[in-house]
Amino acid sequence: MVDDAPANEWDPDAYDRDTGFVHEHGGSVVELLDPAPGERVLDLGCGTGHLTADIADRVGESGEAVGVDAAAEMVERARETYPDLRFEAADAREYAPDESFDAVFSNAALHWIPRGDQPTVAERMADLLEPGGRFVAELGGAGNVAAVVDATLAELRERGHEVDHPWYFPTVGEHAAVLEAAGFEVRLARLFDRPTELAGGREGLTDWLDVFGDSLFAGLDDDERNAVVSAVEDRLRPELFDADAGVWTADYRRLRFVAVRE
Ligand code: BEZ
Repeated sequence: MVDDAPANEWDPDAYDRDTGFVHEHGGSVVELLDPAPGERVLDLGCGTGHLTADIADRVGESGEAVGVDAAAEMVERARETYPDLRFEAADAREYAPDESFDAVFSNAALHWIPRGDQPTVAERMADLLEPGGRFVAELGGAGNVAAVVDATLAELRERGHEVDHPWYFPTVGEHAAVLEAAGFEVRLARLFDRPTELAGGREGLTDWLDVFGDSLFAGLDDDERNAVVSAVEDRLRPELFDADAGVWTADYRRLRFVAVRE
């Protein structure tokens, strides 16, 4: 058995509509992966499958891209959208199919897995690769959305709710050590600021918290959740909202790595 990851209810419609920028930014991680015709690639945490499809186009009919996600509703949507591709509902911490891949790819998924389970996931991915196989990924890095998290935790605390930071946002050193311990050589690791305009205009922060924030608001009823979100908007408006453009920009920081199985 594995510990529970932060509980989040996934709504594929809201995910694609309100956070479509996640897979749009992920296109540059696919560039870094540089999938070649004939390769077999696992997309770990594939969500609604758009990047899996991009990779599938690049590996062509002689290769295969397989998408895996822990959320059954996301996998179901990916299958509906891309019926010719293979998608599986599985937990990364337990995923051990009887096959191997040339590369493992992951965009915006590893930060949902608790810190204590990261070594297991890195080992699982190493097991799926032959020596020389590559693991190319991006996740939230140290300090990712710190303004949003700090404001939300502070608002919750003032209302008597003690909530832990729900995501794994490591430094380069922390995550490189996890990869090395699992048998990878880290060839590239970069932590960088990527301020990210949220979709939805004035509703952008509310929509973002609606899609990603369930673990922050566990145990709150709808009225209190809405009150917290509104108070968080008030706290963050001076820093993150451009009133002229009507746009929220979240303080994203990403950690991108290329690691090769030894
Ligand atoms: C993301 O996938 O972009 C994300 C999810 C949770 C927190 C921050 C970012």
